[in-house]
Amino acid sequence: MTTQLETERLTLRPWTEADAPALFRWARDPEVGPRAGWDPHASIEESARIIREVLAVPESYAIVVRGREPEGEPVGAIGLKFGAASDLARDAIEAELGYWLARPLWGRGYMPEAGRALLTHAFSDLRLKVVWAGHYEGNLQSRRVMEKLGLTEKRTRNADGRIEHVLCITRAQWGQNLSTGEKNALP
Ligand SMILES: CC(C)(COP(=O)(O)OP(=O)(O)OC[C@H]1O[C@@H](n2cnc3c(N)ncnc32)[C@H](O)[C@@H]1OP(=O)(O)O)[C@@H](O)C(=O)NCCC(=O)NCCS
Repeated sequence: MTTQLETERLTLRPWTEADAPALFRWARDPEVGPRAGWDPHASIEESARIIREVLAVPESYAIVVRGREPEGEPVGAIGLKFGAASDLARDAIEAELGYWLARPLWGRGYMPEAGRALLTHAFSDLRLKVVWAGHYEGNLQSRRVMEKLGLTEKRTRNADGRIEHVLCITRAQWGQNLSTGEKNALP
């Protein structure tokens, strides 16, 4: 089940079909989807279908900046993929992290903030052992997010003709990055 996660500035909550116009507003941007491996959305109807078929699944979150108008509008996505939905995560104790953010909000540290909350959830609530993530060659913005989250590179691979860098973080490595109080809260 997808719960709701709160960070200092963000709420991460499940997607609903009512988010389709907002999703289209940001996901039509040709600078966003292709960097993450998907085509820009062509219509609100397509965004609604993507919500139904792709985003409305467990551990997939809409990112909302609290206090930003229009209140409650998603400005990005972050999630964990499991099993057949991921070609990096090999079994039930692993997952693949993915994310994107509306272009006007880049560079404010929102995605590292969302990522930290989701990794804490992944390791302490879901009790995962490894979280993987991949970025295409040249996507230095995504690389920086992964580095800020403590992921380290394991290999590169060919992904449909593009070079993809594959990184991961283990539960033990995540625990080493936590404060004593946060460590004590781990099960
Ligand atoms: C990757 C992405 C989610 C980063 O989110 P973010 O909240 O902007 O992350 P940060 O604020 O930590 O910025 C990360 C880096 O982006 C760069 N950056 C910052 N503002 C930028 C801007 N306006 N334009 C371009 N790059 C910028 C900086 O190098 C920054 O690293 P630094 O903090 O060491 O200077 C966002 O760029 C994005 O959605 N990109 C398109 C989709 C994508 O690539 N998804 C990941 C697929 S693997």
